[in-house]
Amino acid sequence: MAGALWPTPMSTVNLKNICKIYENNVPAVNDFNLDIEDKEFIVLVGPSGCGKSTTLRMVAGLEDISKGELYIDGRLVNNVEPKDRDISMVFQSYALYPHMTVRENMGFPLKLRKVDKAEIARRVQEAAEILSITQYLDRKPKALSGGQRQRVAIGRAIVREPKVLLMDEPLSNLDAKLRNEMRAEIIKLRQRINTTFIYVTHDQTEAMTLGDRIAIMKDGVVQQIGTPQQVFNTPANLFVASFIGTPQMNFFKARLEKADTGYQVECLGAVVPVGTEMAGTLASKGQTSADVTLGVRPEHISIHTGAGNAISSTVEVSELMGSEIYLHTVVGESSEQQEVVMRIQTTDLPVEYRSGVPYGAKLEFTFCNQMIHLFDPATERSLLC
Ligand SMILES: Nc1ncnc2c1ncn2[C@@H]1O[C@H](COP(=O)(O)OP(=O)(O)OP(=O)(O)O)[C@@H](O)[C@H]1O
Ligand SMILES: [Mg+2]
Repeated sequence: MAGALWPTPMSTVNLKNICKIYENNVPAVNDFNLDIEDKEFIVLVGPSGCGKSTTLRMVAGLEDISKGELYIDGRLVNNVEPKDRDISMVFQSYALYPHMTVRENMGFPLKLRKVDKAEIARRVQEAAEILSITQYLDRKPKALSGGQRQRVAIGRAIVREPKVLLMDEPLSNLDAKLRNEMRAEIIKLRQRINTTFIYVTHDQTEAMTLGDRIAIMKDGVVQQIGTPQQVFNTPANLFVASFIGTPQMNFFKARLEKADTGYQVECLGAVVPVGTEMAGTLASKGQTSADVTLGVRPEHISIHTGAGNAISSTVEVSELMGSEIYLHTVVGESSEQQEVVMRIQTTDLPVEYRSGVPYGAKLEFTFCNQMIHLFDPATERSLLC
């Protein structure tokens, strides 16, 4: 298999209390701590301006570290030149040289390092095979599509056989279809080359599908670090809960009541029992009755008729997505209406609604009680982790 000969140097990266303060004195990155394991695929995700690129650029050595320590393979590299860090970076803009062929573009970093010609040819060929671009090696970049150019840019980064491969929004210039294809290519690339990846994106789908672990950032501060499953199932706070998952989680003002037998939540005029496992977590933390913010993902709502604790809603917008349907509904009287978004399997709807639910239709629903999230309205932190 192509890539089988890929060298496998150890490549851990440790960020210890890393801060970046630009001239304006506002910390762009504040106390970032992360231990990245050898060969791990880490994704930094968050909204525009949250400090993702700044963090990546500090790892690359393109930006000074204001405070804290950065280690690669256990070596403190704060003051090591970018070229001596054994790191390659792929940028959003492909930044290929227009006058060079694909082969020359890919070989260029090796030529700069005075690697001999036969070795350059071997590595370019190998990288081109991994990325399925061998047939374009003699073309100039302008004769390539966006996706092909991005592969060349990735090829140019991997020919150096870096210990750590950094990627800053490498797919964001591509259209949606190509982005999906290239996302799958990056998963394949990861299986073929043995290196540590740090990947920056603002797209939570990319983060969820690519990352072994995800670091979710907001305003320069890491909100949660965990596997895709951990951040999805047990978001640490309201921000993470709303950032991960589409459509976004619904949030409601609610009241958590502790009784002798367990807990229940009162919300939208209905009583939602709290599952045993969740009740155990709350009890172990000594949780008492309190006002809470209840979070429920649109896919954790079920349509029911006649269930005791069902809530009535009125459909405003229905979006048929194929096997699923997204319903934007409202609950309650006009002065206190609350929007509830649901993501329902079309087969779970009455037959007459499977090609779309008309405006004004009435539906009754319940929350899957094992799948609710509870947050402290003041601190916005989860009561469950
Ligand atoms: N050279 C600079 N001088 C001053 N402030 C900067 C500089 N570069 C970035 N910033 C600020 O630092 C913060 C973080 O920027 P950064 O580019 O790291 O964000 P990002 O998460 O990569 O955003 P995007 O998704 O838009 O690329 C922003 O508030 C930005 O305005
Ligand atoms: Mg950026």
